[in-house]
Amino acid sequence: MAIRGNLLRTIVLLLSTRLPFVTSASATLTTCLSSANLQPISSSSSDYTADSLAYNRRLSYKPADIVFPTNEQDVASAVNCASQVGVKIAARSGGHSYAANGVGGEDGSLVIDLKNLNSVKVTASNQTAVFGTGIRIGDLALALFNGGKQAMAHGTCPYVGTGGHLGCGGFGLPSRLWGLALDAVIGAQVILANGSIVTASSTENQDLFFAIRGAAPSFGVVTSLTVKTQSAPSSNVFFNYVFSPLNVTMAVETFLAYQNFGANDAPPNLGMNVELGNGDFEMSGVFYGPTSNFSAVIRPLLDAVPQQPKSESVKTYDWLGILTQLAGSDGSLNTSTKADVSDTFYAKSLMVEENAPLTKTALQSFFNYLYGPGTTTDTSWFILADLWGGPSSAINVVPSTQTAFSHRSTLYTFQFYASSSNSAPPYPSDGISFVDGMVSSITSNMSGTDFGMYSCYVDPQLSAAEAQQVYYGNATTTRLQNIKSQVDPMNIFSFPQAIENVPDPESTAQSAAQRGAAPYAAQLGVIAALLLDVLLPVV
Ligand SMILES: Cc1cc2nc3c(=O)[nH]c(=O)nc-3n(C[C@H](O)[C@H](O)[C@H](O)COP(=O)(O)OP(=O)(O)OC[C@H]3O[C@@H](n4cnc5c(N)ncnc54)[C@H](O)[C@@H]3O)c2cc1C
Ligand SMILES: *[C@@H]1O[C@H](CO)[C@@H](O)[C@H](O)[C@H]1NC(C)=O
Ligand SMILES: *[C@@H]1O[C@H](CO)[C@@H](O)[C@H](O)[C@H]1NC(C)=O
Ligand SMILES: *[C@@H]1O[C@H](CO)[C@@H](O)[C@H](O)[C@H]1NC(C)=O
Ligand SMILES: *[C@@H]1O[C@H](CO)[C@@H](O)[C@H](O)[C@H]1NC(C)=O
Ligand SMILES: *[C@@H]1O[C@H](CO)[C@@H](O)[C@H](O)[C@H]1NC(C)=O
Ligand SMILES: *[C@@H]1O[C@H](CO)[C@@H](O)[C@H](O)[C@H]1NC(C)=O
Ligand SMILES: *[C@@H]1O[C@H](CO)[C@@H](O)[C@H](O)[C@H]1NC(C)=O
Repeated sequence: MAIRGNLLRTIVLLLSTRLPFVTSASATLTTCLSSANLQPISSSSSDYTADSLAYNRRLSYKPADIVFPTNEQDVASAVNCASQVGVKIAARSGGHSYAANGVGGEDGSLVIDLKNLNSVKVTASNQTAVFGTGIRIGDLALALFNGGKQAMAHGTCPYVGTGGHLGCGGFGLPSRLWGLALDAVIGAQVILANGSIVTASSTENQDLFFAIRGAAPSFGVVTSLTVKTQSAPSSNVFFNYVFSPLNVTMAVETFLAYQNFGANDAPPNLGMNVELGNGDFEMSGVFYGPTSNFSAVIRPLLDAVPQQPKSESVKTYDWLGILTQLAGSDGSLNTSTKADVSDTFYAKSLMVEENAPLTKTALQSFFNYLYGPGTTTDTSWFILADLWGGPSSAINVVPSTQTAFSHRSTLYTFQFYASSSNSAPPYPSDGISFVDGMVSSITSNMSGTDFGMYSCYVDPQLSAAEAQQVYYGNATTTRLQNIKSQVDPMNIFSFPQAIENVPDPESTAQSAAQRGAAPYAAQLGVIAALLLDVLLPVV
């Protein structure tokens, strides 16, 4: 024992430089996953390249292995293998992360793809549903409706995965009425770094329950979610107003009319946005209510804009009809009927606070940029300004300390999105700076204002510290770091912007526990096992 203790102590010191062990760790991972009957896809497998693709083809990373578990015990086995050898883990649901975080956001992760965990059970009588987080939001929406005309708030693209979407936020046009998708969550099953399978809710593992509603990817693999559902409205009025072409002056005034209407007049059963593109200025959305009420609801906006729309369309749909209409070219709600598409893009976000709406100067600078550089870029771009706040918005009635998603006073959220012109690589060399310029055209004119950003539109150009500050704010980040220390002390759920546990300054393991280094204790476990193999026959 004494000899072994000394040897281990020596190895602890050696392990602060991890390089010699990387290759053996990944080989050991594959062996461990195979022994657990998880049939890992490794770099030598013929499916490896296809299974490693991210929705955003601008980014590509090489996972250590990819597994497709069929139940939560399989997920726990996979997590145990990765923890034992010190390989970081990325769960993958729909693979739609803007930063390719579904394949780890960097090389070398174990990807745990959840597509086989896709069951849904709806109980309309008490308005709850339980689903596996491998299901996509289109398929979930269909199942909810088929299970007793139930619904919930979520985004428009059917192919987005529920695991990622409800783990970061989940905004949709009904969110001012019902909240974000994550606000519907009342319970979760989570696989922790040590392989334990736990329930998180308002009564069990409350800290974890807080963390997975906004920062899930850093805390574990959420295998199933229980949500509160809503009765699907039978009448849903879709509207689209085209204001373009407009000059800068008119664009600024039209946008200001939207901003004022959102802050003062829009009832919670109205979801809407401004959509901007090269030469394009539109407003559209859905009124969840009777057709006959719509014109009175939208009247204050149309009275305030400097020029009436050049064209408009207003049409009432049933629930599945409105979801299909919003999905548009993204396709059918049933994602088995057509293969997913992909894009090659960079995007950023900006959350405008209710108490700090954009100034006229900032909007002038913004539209000057769009009507100048925006007309000559090689990229194909759009901007959405989705209304989140205003009178009685269900997003903002939630206290900012209730979930890890902490932005509870947003008036509207911008998304700035620029693709390569044919949606395929290569990405234009000016694309990132062009999108940065959109954002700074606003922020440079409001230098005293702190803008938040939306982690569902994850921006891989930000450092981890910047990202955490704009996604969560300082207080929530500190709380998340403390929870991380409890449930993932070795930072196994790791990616470039992940929440990290607060390093213990006393610990000699500190440098090995830094992000990028394989978890130290886990490696120690492997080395100890190898040593035992060598020493045991001797003993
Ligand atoms: C075309 C398109 C349309 C979109 N529309 C909207 C919209 O209308 N509203 C909106 O709010 N957002 C929207 N988004 C953003 C979307 O919500 C995020 O990209 C979301 O993270 C994607 O989830 P995913 O499961 O598909 O992605 P993935 O890449 O699979 O996962 C994203 C992140 O979550 C982690 N993760 C996935 N599953 C789990 C799990 N079960 N447990 C723990 N961590 C997990 C991954 O490791 C990764 O870090 C859209 C994105 C795209 C590409
Ligand atoms: C709803 O009903 C289902 C099925 O009876 C039950 O399993 C679940 O616990 C109930 N949920 C709530 C929140 O009452
Ligand atoms: C912008 O358009 C409006 C309305 O068409 C027009 O009155 C105004 O002169 C234009 N402004 C500029 C600077 O061209
Ligand atoms: C519709 O309008 C009527 C009359 O103004 C109002 O009483 C009712 O609450 C409105 N319903 C909805 C769903 O907006
Ligand atoms: C989705 O489509 C597949 C393939 O066509 C079909 O088997 C399945 O039943 C459909 N699901 C729903 C919920 O309609
Ligand atoms: C706003 O930004 C523009 C450039 O985008 C700059 O010329 C102008 O000085 C800025 N105004 C203020 C008040 O910062
Ligand atoms: C949050 O923390 C950062 C970095 O420590 C600091 O620069 C910033 O001022 C803090 N913000 C607030 C609102 O406290
Ligand atoms: C796993 O980690 C959790 C969270 O730290 C802890 O509560 C639990 O006891 C651990 N389980 C085992 C088997 O170590």
